[in-house]
Amino acid sequence: MGRKRVLSGVQPTGALHLGNWLGAIRNWVKLQEDHETFVCVVDLHAITVPHDPSLLAENTLKTAALYIACGMNPQQCSIFIQSQIAAHSELCWLLNCVTPLNWMERMIQFKEKSVKQGDNVSIGLLDYPVLMAADILLYDADLVPVGEDQKQHLELARDIAQQRINSRFGSESIPILKVPTPLIIKEGAKVMSLTEGNNKMSKSDPNENSRITLLDPPDLIKKKIKRAKTDQHFGLEFDNPNRPEADNLLSLYAILSGMGRENVARECSQMGWGTFKPLLTEATISALEPIQNKYKELMKDRTELHYILDNGKNQAEEVANSTLKRLQLALGLLRKNQN
Ligand code: AMP
Ligand code: TRP
Repeated sequence: MGRKRVLSGVQPTGALHLGNWLGAIRNWVKLQEDHETFVCVVDLHAITVPHDPSLLAENTLKTAALYIACGMNPQQCSIFIQSQIAAHSELCWLLNCVTPLNWMERMIQFKEKSVKQGDNVSIGLLDYPVLMAADILLYDADLVPVGEDQKQHLELARDIAQQRINSRFGSESIPILKVPTPLIIKEGAKVMSLTEGNNKMSKSDPNENSRITLLDPPDLIKKKIKRAKTDQHFGLEFDNPNRPEADNLLSLYAILSGMGRENVARECSQMGWGTFKPLLTEATISALEPIQNKYKELMKDRTELHYILDNGKNQAEEVANSTLKRLQLALGLLRKNQN
């Protein structure tokens, strides 16, 4: 048996933040060691809400550079840009034709995002999870490492593969599509906003102080943590539902300092916010420093970056096209030179 396959992706909308790193990318880095790993920048997802075309290509390249800066190794995995492989859009169409509309209308992220768009909700926004299912199913992925917020989308991808493709068009013994398993690693799966401990850290929060991006310089990190919301209690603790900010900032400290929850719980139980915040600041700056250095190096001479993405595209496209063909045949589409 070959190695298990992993696929994941992040949208190139704005700067990646601690949630993207700790909830998703950090886990990919470990998985690439013993899994066949594909990671893409999902630029077709980024255009499901209004976007600025003059920034998209640059943000796409920057996001790919950050994957590598965070530790994705092009020798061990395939890194590519979603829109460069036509099979993603083609499979999305085929899956659209078998996916019930009412499954889509139930999607929480659609409901949340569509409220913000008012009368301008695109069909693409509604269809976003089907495109995501196509991304995953094209690679026969066994595991999809994502943050907690993507769980419902993963369930949809499983239902499409199992109930709408395999059970309708395949036979019990020969499934057409692999049914993927979500991999949500609890630690870091939901990093919360710095300004409101009950909201998740998000690229789309209009308040920039709510998130720390992977490229924030040290003095900005210091400022954001200084302004982060706290509470009136003395002594810091995890898991108190009345103290979401304490739980979030301690969790960040436990991961970023590498100390782990138990040590941090002990160290901080008698600590006030004024002592704690500089420690968290220091741990954050140190954890991001190597990423920022590697990122700057990659963006200085982009030739290597383009070479890596070309390679990744070639590797991914071969797999994607073969899955697409399998599905086209199963659905009865006439292939070129088919008798
Ligand atoms: P997005 O920013 O929506 O493109 O998300 C990219 C990846 O980061 C997905 O796997 C998300 O689940 C993950 N992610 C986004 N925000 C957070 C967060 N606040 N905490 C943990 N993971 C997150
Ligand atoms: N929807 C995901 C997010 O916002 C991004 C995404 C698109 C993705 N296609 C994917 C994640 C395939 C994992 C696998 O986070």
